[in-house]
Amino acid sequence: MTKYGSFPGARPRRLRTTPAMRRMVAEYRLHPADLILPAFVREGIGEPAPISAMPGVVQHTRDTLRKAAVEAVEAGVAGIMLFGVPLDEKKDAAGTAGTDPDGILQVAIRDVRAEVGDDLVIMSDLCLDEYTDHGHCGVLDAEGRVDNDATLERYAEMAQVQADAGVHVVGPSGMMDGQVGVVRDALDQTGHEDVSILAYTAKYSSAFYGPFREAVGSSLKGDRKTYQQDAANLRESLRELALDLEEGADMVMVKPALPYLDVLARIADEADVPVAAYQISGEYAMVEAAAEKGWIDRDKAILEALTGIKRAGADMILTYWATEVARGLK
Ligand code: PBG
Repeated sequence: MTKYGSFPGARPRRLRTTPAMRRMVAEYRLHPADLILPAFVREGIGEPAPISAMPGVVQHTRDTLRKAAVEAVEAGVAGIMLFGVPLDEKKDAAGTAGTDPDGILQVAIRDVRAEVGDDLVIMSDLCLDEYTDHGHCGVLDAEGRVDNDATLERYAEMAQVQADAGVHVVGPSGMMDGQVGVVRDALDQTGHEDVSILAYTAKYSSAFYGPFREAVGSSLKGDRKTYQQDAANLRESLRELALDLEEGADMVMVKPALPYLDVLARIADEADVPVAAYQISGEYAMVEAAAEKGWIDRDKAILEALTGIKRAGADMILTYWATEVARGLK
């Protein structure tokens, strides 16, 4: 007995006594192979261009993108997700540069594939927003609304040119209804039955995408609320999951990560395919900005956020810190 009552019968603190003990009993571990590096490549620049809202991230030139891919392989990163940034004058209403076999994304896919072959899983964003002059993820109808089915035809063409360029995985991110099914058909009909689909299953309309819009030079005015999901809905993402699986998704993704860990946990429970989470630009920017001000410990905050995403159920995490973190884990 202590002076004030009985001694505790259980002492969970015993397993927290030393770093070695804590490491041994860790339930979740980050591994370099969990990580996927999103990367931007911009047409027509001689030097990598910094992205002011994402300190440490750049719009790559074709050359520096190749280098970044090699560094990712050396660090043990699993994959790279490529985003193309075309010349401004190549943007048009239909997003033509997105289906040009010599468009910047297709060129970048070929470059990276030639450089690292199959040592890295090469993925590509399959969406029109980087290529349209109005900035929407699809084409517009006469009233200026995003036309779901006309957009699907464009996505089918994108799938084919990206697969022709040598991508391993396409990531349809536009949140059009039926996009996974159409992309699967397009791939199968063009001899690309081995190319996988990482479906953006639960993609929420998010203020945290802000820095990405700078990263891809998006010309969007307004928002994407008629196609991206509303933050208020959880059940809806389970319906999106069922549809994506039915349409042939090989892997599914939740995005953003940190404000939607409950959605991630539910999807990870329900899905019988690998589940990815995208730690997006705003999640990156918040940590970098607070760290720059000396308000948080940057490295610890990064690992804590990534561990939380893993604990919530992610098998893979897209993160702009992928190479740095993978190096640290090695
Ligand atoms: C759409 C797309 C977006 C992101 C990835 N794919 C932007 C959007 O939907 O507005 C955001 C990624 C990030 O914020 O890091 N092509």
